[in-house]
Amino acid sequence: MKNTSAASHASSGPTLSRREFLYRAAAVGGTGLLLNTLNAWGASVGSTENGPPALSGDGKGKTIIILGAGLAGMTAAYELGKLGYTCRILEARDFAGGRCQTARKGFTLKEYGGEEQVCQFDEGQYINHGPWRIPYNHQSTLHYTKLFQVPLEIMVNDNDVAWVYREGAPGPLLNRRVRQLEIKADMRGHVAELLAKAVKDDKLDNELTVEDKRLLLNYLAHEGHLSKNDLKYRGGEGRGFKVYPGAGTDPGPGMESDPLGFKELLGSELGNVYSGVHEIWQQATMFQPVGGMDSIAKAFEKRVGKDIRYGTIVQAIRQQEDGVSIDYRDAVTGATGSVHGDFCLCTLPLSVMGSIANDFSPQFKEALRAAPYLPVGKIGLQMKRRFWEEDDFIYGGHIRTNFQGIGDITLPSTGWQSQKGVLLGYYNFASQATEISAMSLQERTDFALAAGQKIFPSYRESCEAAFSVAWHRVPYNLGGWATWTPEARKTAYPLLWQGEGRVLLAGEHMSYLGGWQAGAIESAWQQVAKIHQRMGA
Ligand code: ALA
Repeated sequence: MKNTSAASHASSGPTLSRREFLYRAAAVGGTGLLLNTLNAWGASVGSTENGPPALSGDGKGKTIIILGAGLAGMTAAYELGKLGYTCRILEARDFAGGRCQTARKGFTLKEYGGEEQVCQFDEGQYINHGPWRIPYNHQSTLHYTKLFQVPLEIMVNDNDVAWVYREGAPGPLLNRRVRQLEIKADMRGHVAELLAKAVKDDKLDNELTVEDKRLLLNYLAHEGHLSKNDLKYRGGEGRGFKVYPGAGTDPGPGMESDPLGFKELLGSELGNVYSGVHEIWQQATMFQPVGGMDSIAKAFEKRVGKDIRYGTIVQAIRQQEDGVSIDYRDAVTGATGSVHGDFCLCTLPLSVMGSIANDFSPQFKEALRAAPYLPVGKIGLQMKRRFWEEDDFIYGGHIRTNFQGIGDITLPSTGWQSQKGVLLGYYNFASQATEISAMSLQERTDFALAAGQKIFPSYRESCEAAFSVAWHRVPYNLGGWATWTPEARKTAYPLLWQGEGRVLLAGEHMSYLGGWQAGAIESAWQQVAKIHQRMGA
């Protein structure tokens, strides 16, 4: 998110000192703008904001209707509540959290057109089938986990010891499981050796001075574990041993392991399954709440639950001169009703807005349809034995596969060395998610087990229970998250962001952090500030 052109522009301002500029930014835009400014200068690494807007004034006597008790809706209710507003949250489900859910024993899900699924995991076992990892730089999410004291633990998001498996890879690596560290060490070693040779043979003379060459060769020898004397790559400890060393007098036969051949590695494309530099939101170690992601939802619910009307399906949004009326239907009794407020914050996914009557302008209605939602599927598999830990010494992280409809198989980052564990058997998107979601629950499980069995001999026999979700078939979500085309970002998105009349929108779809809880929270923060301003408080 660092904007270097903004950075150079801002810091070259002729008359304003940096401190003065920051002071003014904070005065005009609150801490949000201040933090954006810091980000633009490269002084921070946060998503965009790490604290709610600092607002003063009083919202007493004003009612804000909030549609949806997901993280956006509950963030707004929490912050508006602090200012004295009366918030009334309408939530279709009988629990809060939106997509921030955790499936554990007894959790039920009925997808559209699907069978009723009741999670059969053992007590204490669970899968985060919605959001499941928090980057260190989503400071908005971390703001609330800290404030509400939601205990966090490390989510292992990259593990060099984990297997990589590419079905159909040509050559000797065909259908062979290889540890990521072997691939990494060998690809880096081979590439470093090749580059070192080019440098030594003066092939890069146009680019490099004599001193550059010396420094680069030093770096390549270090990075690629090349022998210092001839700059050759011959493997090394980092890729693991053939026989691991231990105690006693025998070092073990052939302790050093042999590198995979460069050409074989290139041919297999195994080197393309990981990246040396992590994506900015996908660090090697991330966070997850202890006991399940829904701890975050529950922490919010504890604070704003009194304002939530559960089982309340929004039917219509109508605006009047002096306020907004929301018609609803009770999910249990079918009774209809209406609530009236001074303002409305709608956090419902755009994917469900089509079923809600409204009196928005034709342009606004069209904009509401502009972002397709991504089909996304996940399956949690409870294994009666942690064979990945016991047999293969892999503690968390992703088994990277090229299986269609499977993607990564992710091992749990909790309950180390306990008896059982729930792993993520597939995480699929788009057309693959649609295809897999058309299967019955049992077929989905069989599909996942057949894939995992190719990598772990104990996979199928260890599986005791499964829980799968296809978010595009989940009522009140109808998709994993919003996907914006660059074109729609320019046209529909700003229109929706402005809102219309007395209705504003928030949610991950109203952010540049799509598919992240931080997007929901930060959009709510900004809209709360706007509501407060509009209410003239
Ligand atoms: N933010 C989502 C994830 O981490 C997409 O998988």
